[in-house]
Amino acid sequence: MAATPTVETTRGRFARPAITPRPTPRRRRGTTAGIFGIGAALPDRVITNADLEQRLDTTDEWIVRRTGIRERRHLAPDEPLADLAARACLLALDDAGRSGSEVDQVIVSTFTPDRITPGLAPEVARLIGAPQASAVDVNAACAGFLYALDQAAALVESGRASVVLVCGAEALSRVTDHDDRSTAVIFGDGAGAVVVAGGQDLDLGVGGFVLGADGEQADLLYAERDERKLRMEGREVYRHAVRRMVGASREALARAGCTVDDIDLFVAHQANVRIVETAAAELGVPREKVAINVDRTANTSSASIPLALARAEEEGLLQPGATVALAAFGAGFVWGAGIVSWKERRQACA
Ligand code: ACO
Repeated sequence: MAATPTVETTRGRFARPAITPRPTPRRRRGTTAGIFGIGAALPDRVITNADLEQRLDTTDEWIVRRTGIRERRHLAPDEPLADLAARACLLALDDAGRSGSEVDQVIVSTFTPDRITPGLAPEVARLIGAPQASAVDVNAACAGFLYALDQAAALVESGRASVVLVCGAEALSRVTDHDDRSTAVIFGDGAGAVVVAGGQDLDLGVGGFVLGADGEQADLLYAERDERKLRMEGREVYRHAVRRMVGASREALARAGCTVDDIDLFVAHQANVRIVETAAAELGVPREKVAINVDRTANTSSASIPLALARAEEEGLLQPGATVALAAFGAGFVWGAGIVSWKERRQACA
């Protein structure tokens, strides 16, 4: 009997995921938005847990056991986040076989732009050679990438845009209290982007989105305008994050006409490996179908989902046609979940 093909990941060797055949066709009418390319960019400067042991009352053992984080990246003080975001966007365009001149809108999800105003998106559009594109920042903290993806899909499916770049980019090191061990160890910088366009005959595309918000809980996770440092009640945030991501994921699955068994990969906001694994276990997603990237990047807020998608693809855990469940939770509180098919078609509509 032929041996089962496997993929080697940093978490061990897994069976190469087989794409789950969908039992019922659920093709939507009209133009369906799909994901056609991905790009990821991290700053060069690596901060390991050992580096943090030098200046904080913490240990590598505590950080790995309680969060799963081994290292994070920090931008240099004079390094613009826009440059990092543009790198991720150019890689995503290249992956989709597109150029900046074809982009109708650039949406950058961030709450850490280089300046209070203008936002990052116009500068990113300039850097990638998209002077004709409209450009806007979205701030929905760690759920921002999903909010932006939902907006991009709506633009494409309504016919208002043909190609939309969605980028999550954060410089959390600039809003971290580096003397506070309970937050300094968990945040990092990074950027990831996807190209969203209209696909022909897509079964699922960017489907089944559920977004939510609850302003009552704002004081559990915030950064004040003057202090500009992230503060949070870690345990409470943890509890709400699991509950909201699980609830939204179940609803998104139902909206997309899928069940948990249809999921080929679960990609949740990478805040803490325990949050991701607890949410996956509550949903009933097996461990080998859970994307983990927090070990390398820490919590990069709205960049964390595209960064995790890029790594999963790189490691062979994500193949064209895969059904991916996305889930995120962040300050607000805001949360979201979506069911998308991964590069369901290689070519977008003309
Ligand atoms: N090293 C060693 N000890 C530490 C550290 C550290 N880096 N940080 C905290 N501790 C200590 C605490 O002081 C406490 O000590 P005590 O028992 O003597 O008081 C003990 O460890 C336990 O602290 P907890 O806060 O209960 O630890 P917990 O296991 O909850 O882990 C953590 C803390 C990692 C922050 C976790 O609660 C978490 O991940 N929460 C969610 C974070 C999150 O999802 N944020 C969301 C998004 S961020 C955004 O939107 C921008």
